[in-house]
Amino acid sequence: MIGVFDSGFGGLTILKDLRQALPDYDFLYLGDNARAPYGSRSYETIYRYTLQCVRELFSRGCPLVILACNTASARALRSIQQQVLPFEFPDRRVLGIIRPTAEEIGNYSKTGHIGIFATAGTVSSNSYHLEIEHFFPNLKVTQHACPMWVPIVENGEMGTEGSRFFVKKEVEALLKKDPEIDTVLLACTHYPLLENEIREALPPGIRLVIQGQIVADKTVDYLNRHREMDARLSKNGKVAFLTTDTAKFFEKGAFLFGMEEISAESLTF
Ligand code: DGL
Repeated sequence: MIGVFDSGFGGLTILKDLRQALPDYDFLYLGDNARAPYGSRSYETIYRYTLQCVRELFSRGCPLVILACNTASARALRSIQQQVLPFEFPDRRVLGIIRPTAEEIGNYSKTGHIGIFATAGTVSSNSYHLEIEHFFPNLKVTQHACPMWVPIVENGEMGTEGSRFFVKKEVEALLKKDPEIDTVLLACTHYPLLENEIREALPPGIRLVIQGQIVADKTVDYLNRHREMDARLSKNGKVAFLTTDTAKFFEKGAFLFGMEEISAESLTF
């Protein structure tokens, strides 16, 4: 199976595109719902939680794990890749979603000015700046943290007056920082759930980029280039769900993310 990890429900937005791009593959999703959100937690805590979840996915038979969470990709990926995999799991791989996005994002902008909405953890890691610099050194990148957006989504408050208020507030703040922005990236997997509010708040002509499709295309490309990994992945078109909260909590929440009639398994560490 391909393991897909997120702090909570957000990674389901990535899983949807992965399943569309790779319909024959099996996926095992793990949402650390009991400990979400990760966005404002310390580096140490995000690393510890993420590693624990990656180990769980490995132990359940995933040779490849995708961190479908920008915060975990920003705060834990590099340490896992450099300090854990070579010593404990030399034949397993963990991929993040920041690099594949950084490889593409500059192609969307005409003005050369882009805006990034992300969690405080992702913004303060500066990962997007560093990664984008490799591929588009002249791109002007302005980041903006939206601390209220993940709690709004995790609590199912999308489409309410409250969500419109908090979205408008952050959109205005970002565009004030750089009025030449013509492309906005949602660099948190929860944020596509607020797409309607975000589109409503953005002035016409600003392009909204959602990561799912980019990550799915890059994963297909990765598997084409790594045939030995591809050969180890089971292909029955199945998906299963794990959560650190109760199965009932996950099943109800996942419904809001468009996952109907799923059954989840609850795990405790
Ligand atoms: N969905 C995660 C991301 O992409 C973070 C949400 C959280 O704060 O836990 O950054």
